[in-house]
Amino acid sequence: MNYKPSFKTLEWVGSGLRLLDQRKLPHSEEYRLLRTMEEVEHAIRKMMVRGAPAIGVTAAYGVVLGFRTYGSKLNLDALRKARPTAINLSWAIDRMADVLEKYPDEDTLLKEAIRIHEEDLASNLHMGELGAGLLEERVNVLTHCNAGALATSGYGTALGVIRSGIAQGKIDRVYVNETRPWLQGSRLTAWELIRDDIPVTLLVESAAAWLMKRGGVDWIIVGADRIAANGDVANKIGTYSLALAAKAHEIQFMVVAPSSTVDLDCSTGEQIEIESRSEHEVLAFNEIPVAAEGADAWNPVFDVTPAELITAIVTEKGVIQFPETPVEKLGQKWTE
Ligand code: MRU
Repeated sequence: MNYKPSFKTLEWVGSGLRLLDQRKLPHSEEYRLLRTMEEVEHAIRKMMVRGAPAIGVTAAYGVVLGFRTYGSKLNLDALRKARPTAINLSWAIDRMADVLEKYPDEDTLLKEAIRIHEEDLASNLHMGELGAGLLEERVNVLTHCNAGALATSGYGTALGVIRSGIAQGKIDRVYVNETRPWLQGSRLTAWELIRDDIPVTLLVESAAAWLMKRGGVDWIIVGADRIAANGDVANKIGTYSLALAAKAHEIQFMVVAPSSTVDLDCSTGEQIEIESRSEHEVLAFNEIPVAAEGADAWNPVFDVTPAELITAIVTEKGVIQFPETPVEKLGQKWTE
């Protein structure tokens, strides 16, 4: 596949890591050069970069920068804790820590970070083809949050399937949930699809079930931040309610994520830590208060969709379809 991205979410430039500041999109395309591990940790915590695979790759380069400052005395705890739900963060740090222990030199660490980066892009391209293979002809799809090139090394997980489906002429229409409170759908997904000349129709999340009822959607396609061994999927808040509505309307539900998102230490979704962010994200928008003064807010930013609501999980290793694959057999499937 000849994929030519029109922007780079993250890029190693020798003196540091150049990141597209996603907080500024869609109004301006601003890049920041991060030169220290602390700057990388801050960028992840503050969502300058977000999306599970992109966070993992960013952290891998963060370890290289940390080695530059601290050598083998490097402490990775703060970086590991920058965001709790996306397993790709600790997965990438574990990979880097392994290399750090065996070959503590900058060149070898950088090679490993580049390998993690390149593997992620290759996985996305492959998952795009696998996922698009599940789509029938002329379908309408709905996605949630941003699981695109901005959330990964390029091409995207859910948006990779949508890009491949469009290229194959299988997709008629792409609906995107705006994704409160951070608006990853309307700010980021719409931005990157429109740049690729893919038309986008935005929805407030509460319109999704009604669209399904009216027969407007054939497939829901989403990414994941962590997948438990039994196939339960943690993803952006609102994914669970989409899956419930999809089940009620007999609409197919696809999750697309690299195998680095599977956490075999979590036997079910119950064990996945769900990040809560500041209530300020709900009560104000762009620093402008939008709620009645005195109200407080609850702001969990992920939820868990049980495996029984999912039609297929696509990783770069293959497609798992439910209920053809019994959940009890999944543990063994992940390690094949
Ligand atoms: O809080 P974010 O923007 O980092 O969350 C990202 C998501 O939940 C995405 O929906 C995605 O599916 C996972 S990353 C491809």
